[in-house]
Amino acid sequence: MSLTGRRFLEGRKFPDGRKFLVSAGPTVEAIDPVRFISNHSTGKMGYALAAELAARGALVTLVSGPTALSIPENVRQRIDVISAEDMWRACTEMWPAMDCAVMCAAVADYTPAAPSSTKIKKSSESLSIPLKPTKDIAADLGRTKREDQILVGFALETDNEEPNALRKLEQKNLDMIVLNSLRVPGAGFGGDTNQITILSRNSKTTFPLESKSVAATHIIDAIENLCR
Ligand code: CTP
Repeated sequence: MSLTGRRFLEGRKFPDGRKFLVSAGPTVEAIDPVRFISNHSTGKMGYALAAELAARGALVTLVSGPTALSIPENVRQRIDVISAEDMWRACTEMWPAMDCAVMCAAVADYTPAAPSSTKIKKSSESLSIPLKPTKDIAADLGRTKREDQILVGFALETDNEEPNALRKLEQKNLDMIVLNSLRVPGAGFGGDTNQITILSRNSKTTFPLESKSVAATHIIDAIENLCR
């Protein structure tokens, strides 16, 4: 951590009073007015992080894809978004004013290239929907990250977990990445538990299967340690 980065914490109990951006939930990409592409994210992990940060006195802005969850207590602001493009716009606009961003959202990597404005009618033919890549929000924040900002990402993997997570850490210019393996029963989307490994450039800590709220305390502790 640079000197400027260390000054970021001087004289204050971390993360008290610091501005945090947390992205959470899935994104939803329209095919036509009634159909979409999305994923199984419920937003529980991101909301647990926002709740833990707010409980520790951070000023939290939650940028959330569609979820069934209500805004956690003491979270200052929730910006509701639908698509990856909406989430990109909200996050890149907020980023310059933030001390730290925790990118927990499961952002769609592809979106329909030309969503139909009218309902696509069925036919007996097979149907292909051309997709185009979305913007990588974490990578864009990483490109404009200042010395005094901290950027944390997540990696959801089914195989080759650690090398993939470390590659994302470098490619997106993250300070820390939380690896979530879908191989572990009880971890990942939907449930109330997760099994995480926290990786930075010089450390690795693996935790047992635990509730998402306990995992959130470990993630925030690790961000705090990163700043020491
Ligand atoms: N992410 C993002 N914008 C995207 C895709 C991912 O901000 N368009 C962020 C996620 O919020 C997460 C990290 O990047 O913090 C890694 O996301 P993940 O889905 O694990 O990986 P991808 O970069 O999408 O790569 P792949 O799907 O090939 O594993």
